[in-house]
Amino acid sequence: MSIAYLNGQFLPIEEAKVPVLDRGFLFGDGVYEVVPVYADRLFRFKQHIARLENSLRGIRLPMEQSLQDWADICHQLIEKNSLQNASVYLQITRGVYTERNHDFPATPIPTIFAMISALPEVQPVPSDKDLQGISVITAEDIRWQRCDIKAITLLANCMLKQQALECGANDTILIRSGVAFEATSSNLFIVRDGVIITPPLSEHLLPGVTRDFVLWLAEQHGILTEQRLIPEHELLQADEIWLTSSTKEIRPVTRLNDVTIGDGTAGPVWRQMYNHYQQLKAQLYRGEIDRNIEGEIAL
Ligand code: PDD
Repeated sequence: MSIAYLNGQFLPIEEAKVPVLDRGFLFGDGVYEVVPVYADRLFRFKQHIARLENSLRGIRLPMEQSLQDWADICHQLIEKNSLQNASVYLQITRGVYTERNHDFPATPIPTIFAMISALPEVQPVPSDKDLQGISVITAEDIRWQRCDIKAITLLANCMLKQQALECGANDTILIRSGVAFEATSSNLFIVRDGVIITPPLSEHLLPGVTRDFVLWLAEQHGILTEQRLIPEHELLQADEIWLTSSTKEIRPVTRLNDVTIGDGTAGPVWRQMYNHYQQLKAQLYRGEIDRNIEGEIAL
């Protein structure tokens, strides 16, 4: 049984209970983070917590926890669950109020919850399944106007993901006014003539920690990158399409609305980036990368 964290206590996840008057339950009033753990180490933790703090500022929920406080919760979860490759889910809501009332409570007592799940270990060489890639559809982005906040209010994301599954695809790329921004739980990249392109940060997409890392990694290896808007019609002209996230890393898209992308398997730039990504993780495992306690790679 997995051990979770709830408001200062570590306990079996089945015993972690939140009152029904919690604003997370009633209003989806909260934010979250998902942090990958490789070989016991929190990956890019500082960046994840910086984004959490931005999300908290975005919903006007002040918190006093330091980076070290969050790291302590996460490290204890890793240890108590004896997991080496995992993802930590951290959620904060505006807590319990005495009644269902849209107004913010004057002095909220946030609910802090965290759990950990195993992540499949990614191999140094991509498997046939990795190379096969995934299939996506496109659909109008029906989410709100603050997608830069990692809010727990994910109904639209769930509906858009389900729409893909019911079309026999794996995910949905989200379109606003003819422009592609991201997918239901990952950022979007395309490759054209060897250049890696991703939409610039805005309120229409989450500032992905993996997105940032992929841009950095590409630059380290002399691969050109560009941050600009991607019109929906350009997706079909792309040599490669990728989706990135902390739990899926870089995933190649090989079918879009039933049209084959590239030659229908992961493209050459993806293969290069996959190697760079896995090499860097391996260096991290071996302690060859200068790293501070938060698990941040010294960039
Ligand atoms: N999702 N865009 C959206 C809408 C996301 O939900 C996510 C992450 C990303 C990628 O961000 P990052 O690289 O920091 O993981 C982009 C997480 C993994 C989730 O909801 O489970």
